[in-house]
Amino acid sequence: MEHDVKDISLAGEGKRRIEWAERDMPVLRSVRAQFEKEQPFKGKTLAAVLHVTAETANLVRTLKAGGANVFLAASNPLSTQDDVAASLVQEYGIPTFAIKGESKEVFFKHIEALIAQKPVLTMDDGADLVTTIHQSHPELLPNILGGTEETTTGVIRLRAMHKAGALKMPIVAVNDAKTKNLFDNRYGTGQSTLDGIIRATDVLLAGKTFVVAGYGWCGKGLAMRAKGMGAGVVVTEIDPIKALEAAMDGFYVTTMDNAATVGDIFCTVTGNINVLVERHFKVMKDGAIVCNAGHFDVEINLDDLKKISSAPKVVRENVEEYMVSPSTGSGQPKRIYVLAEGRLVNLAAAEGHPASVMDMSFATQALGSAWMATQKTPLAAGVYDIPVEMEQRIAQLKLSSMGTTIDELSDEQKKYLASWQEGT
Ligand code: ADE
Repeated sequence: MEHDVKDISLAGEGKRRIEWAERDMPVLRSVRAQFEKEQPFKGKTLAAVLHVTAETANLVRTLKAGGANVFLAASNPLSTQDDVAASLVQEYGIPTFAIKGESKEVFFKHIEALIAQKPVLTMDDGADLVTTIHQSHPELLPNILGGTEETTTGVIRLRAMHKAGALKMPIVAVNDAKTKNLFDNRYGTGQSTLDGIIRATDVLLAGKTFVVAGYGWCGKGLAMRAKGMGAGVVVTEIDPIKALEAAMDGFYVTTMDNAATVGDIFCTVTGNINVLVERHFKVMKDGAIVCNAGHFDVEINLDDLKKISSAPKVVRENVEEYMVSPSTGSGQPKRIYVLAEGRLVNLAAAEGHPASVMDMSFATQALGSAWMATQKTPLAAGVYDIPVEMEQRIAQLKLSSMGTTIDELSDEQKKYLASWQEGT
């Protein structure tokens, strides 16, 4: 079987990790049982470009159980768990192309290896697979039944493609499902980002000023969890409504120009470029820690930082020290610490979101993909939402797995909600 992983002998450890994650993925397990019976992907080739983690391994096992010929490559050069990649090849027979630390060239070579299989279904986390197919292999598009997209950044790219008339296949925006963003983006990013920062630096958060750039669901989760660990949290935003929400959630809201002078730890989660640039680095405190939890490594302008500092030195795994020269002759140089080269700190320095939250995201992925694969008439090109009943089923399954029961509407209550005559 063709594959490209770091070291196949790591497979045993990878299998243990995959099984450990599976314990916490009851919704995905029930989707797998359904797929084993229904075979929604029977004989279809599915290419998945996702973070190669223990949780993703359980997703691709589920797709395979549903009859798919699955091929997997990494959606980020630094997020691959090499033991998991080895195990997928050795123990589960899933061709995997992913090596932690791979160059950009190898990253795209791996995506090309998947495209060579002529997939009819795609799964993306950041839209690199779909954009590569459109740009370099448009001949595949007429046969593609559809694709799913996991993350906010990817959905933004795909909607932009659609708006420009360039999108030639249907996409299910998994990210936009409530069963994804309310939980994965908020609680997953909140916890795993702090996990990455702490594993990388061992910093004490209590008493620190923690600057969160961006108050989408990821920023909200991160700000909430940093506050819970005792940090004073500062939020920066460009959207007045989100900024107001952050202020009323109890955070200090200001511009990055102000925040840069007071922050001890900075984390960008905006999905945009150049959030931290030269003028911010120049006014940061000595010892400031800077990281990113947005999809691409474009939020912190490391070229700007390199311009004003000496060559970075690795001082701990995933921590690089930049010595910034003083702006006046008499000043002292100061240290700025960049985590995980400005890439997703939660996946590069920790293990990504916990399995329990990926359970819902990946059940949404699996069901969304099966929904596309089993349409009687193939869907037209465009960006689709997950059907609401599917989201409700996923939430209900998760609640049941937690042993939580909820009330049901009585007939009288249903009638009341459907009527307009009764008022004051
Ligand atoms: N994205 C964030 N956390 C993840 C995880 N644990 N596995 C796959 N994708 C992720």
